[in-house]
Amino acid sequence: MSLGDHFKTIAVNTDLLILGGGMSACGAAYEAAYWARKHNKKVTVVDKASIDRSGAVAMGLSAINMYIGLKDNDNTIEDYVKYVKNDLMGITRDDLVANIARHVDSSVHLFEKWGLPIWKDENGKYVNEGRWQVMIHGESYKTIVAEAAKNALSSLGENGKYYERIFITEPIIEEGRCVGASGFSVREKKIYIFKAKAVLDAMGGAVHVFKPRSVGEGLGRSWYPPFNSGASAYFTIRAGAEMTCQEVRFVPVRFKDAYGPVGAWFLLFQSKATNAAGEDYMQTRADELKKWAPYGLSKPVPANLRNYLMMLEVMESKHPIYMQTAEAIKNIAGQIKDEKEARRKLKHLENEAWEDFLDMTISQALLWASTNIKPEENPSEIAACEPYFISSHSGASGAWVSGPEDMAPEGYKWGYPNMTTVKALFACGDASGASSHKFSSGSFTEGRIAAKAALAFCMDNNDIPEITSEKIDKLKQEILAPLETFEANKAYSNDKDINPNFVKPKMFMFRLQKIMDEYAGGVSTHFMTTKPLMEKGLEFIQYMKEDSKKLAAEDLHELMRCWENIHRLWQAESHIRTMLFREETRWPGYYFRSDFPKMDEENWHCFANSRWNPETNEWKMMKREIKELVKLDA
Ligand code: FAD
Ligand code: ADX
Repeated sequence: MSLGDHFKTIAVNTDLLILGGGMSACGAAYEAAYWARKHNKKVTVVDKASIDRSGAVAMGLSAINMYIGLKDNDNTIEDYVKYVKNDLMGITRDDLVANIARHVDSSVHLFEKWGLPIWKDENGKYVNEGRWQVMIHGESYKTIVAEAAKNALSSLGENGKYYERIFITEPIIEEGRCVGASGFSVREKKIYIFKAKAVLDAMGGAVHVFKPRSVGEGLGRSWYPPFNSGASAYFTIRAGAEMTCQEVRFVPVRFKDAYGPVGAWFLLFQSKATNAAGEDYMQTRADELKKWAPYGLSKPVPANLRNYLMMLEVMESKHPIYMQTAEAIKNIAGQIKDEKEARRKLKHLENEAWEDFLDMTISQALLWASTNIKPEENPSEIAACEPYFISSHSGASGAWVSGPEDMAPEGYKWGYPNMTTVKALFACGDASGASSHKFSSGSFTEGRIAAKAALAFCMDNNDIPEITSEKIDKLKQEILAPLETFEANKAYSNDKDINPNFVKPKMFMFRLQKIMDEYAGGVSTHFMTTKPLMEKGLEFIQYMKEDSKKLAAEDLHELMRCWENIHRLWQAESHIRTMLFREETRWPGYYFRSDFPKMDEENWHCFANSRWNPETNEWKMMKREIKELVKLDA
């Protein structure tokens, strides 16, 4: 009897399959339920974790970073598109950004209706953190949104289902169409084969592809949540979908070591960051920004350039870099003449400072407490994190998706909104590329847009090819291979983690992280890389692909870890290939190509797209034209 015989195979048939249970998946489930009820369709959500606390919003958030406020202020959709385009140094899909922007406010209003406390001023207006961000008491943000998504599904009765703790491994493709996905339970001996008329990829971004700054006891600590490991990109790449902006990683600047957010400090408290000598590098290095014009001269300065000016300080050993929290708090309180009122304000600001962390990054509050930081008295170190893949924030990597019917220029639409170049496969949130700055609210909104389109697709494409039993057997074998490998070889050595016949997922991950760090512009090389470095890195990645066949898992938890790392590996490969393809430096504070140290608008004002061909196992790199709906201000 083989190990596979101990695993039950569960077949699930549905119309719309939503993969992931994060912000975009919850938006998708909520919207899908409305259309599914009308047309008697089935909707199924699958999450590797528990929807209540899964994904990037698991710990809670302190702000909603995308709110246009069309009815509350003078902001326009055009302004938002310009903001995003400048921040991404000109590389963005205006149609996708505008589509989310025109719908996002209604999502935010739903969150409030469901019970999310949004800060209000004395006139009952939302308190803005910055122009586009509103402050929330967001510890329970995800549970509130998850509850609404689950309620919507249960309103469908037998037609609405969600599965938790099922790890999705692979797309299932028949006759060029995505017809489902395979996965396994991380708690029980069960393999899942989901068959669907349309599949929506919403499995978030990726972390731990690069070596993290945190080591030893702090290893799991990163800015991006450790649960998202590149499943979205893996799924679309392996389905044969065209990808875009796979080079555009995100390197956030955060409070050092516990990764606390900086947005509230920079925007709400108007704080400055300085070098060790107290110099404001955004001023002393302002000339550098001219080299990256026109984007470098826009306001706000693009996130990657804010990073870059800081990195230049570090490279000249002018760090530690400090967020001047005490000065910021005093500046605000100092504007109040009445002494008692000023003291009250100071206390209030102190509370807000701590709440900012307690809402979303509790470990930063712990680190402050344990290192005697009092934000009203002393400054606090900030640093650039290791790179992550999160296109819903300030990165842009993801699938190349069809745009909205009424807005997308020629060449940007080939079917239903948010469908990838593979029939029946849709993407949203971190899974779709070139539409950055959607954040929590925009991801939820994009999930709604994509789910509505995917259900329309189901209506129009009712017949789907069968999944053959040979394919199911093969998938089952591949999923369980790491367990088989462990069982077959475990007796060879007396340490279950060290064995010449296999590699455990943790070791595998360390190896990948080292390659990415040293060859693909990680923290240790100050985010710099070159063609020879990347070519060498790619060579090592190929060895890792060979070695991935030797991954070994002792139990179901390790089986998940094995698959997470297979997903990361493909995310890593596509990242290096796209950085290599783009022969310029465009986002110097995210990565710097020392062999092409300048931005080249003439040759590279375009998308760098890629496609892995499942038939030939070859990668094709291609340029795609930028078609603007909105021109940047001269
Ligand atoms: P997620 O919400 O991350 O969801 C991904 C889902 O996929 C999860 O349910 C996960 O369990 C599931 N999944 C992953 N792999 C698999 C697999 N193999 N099989 C099955 N399921 C899988 N936005 C704001 O508006 N305001 C903020 O203050 C803010 N702060 C942030 C702070 C941090 C630290 C981070 C990381 C992000 C922040 N964001 C903020 C951005 C926001 O969280 C994201 O934009 C949003 O969560 C993206 O939604 P998503 O659905 O694409 O991914
Ligand atoms: S969060 O994801 O942890 O909330 P972060 O704290 O960096 O992100 O920023 C929140 C929001 O503020 C994002 O929209 C970000 O682009 C914006 N932001 C952060 N710092 C600045 C700054 N110095 N100037 C302009 N915008 C900023």
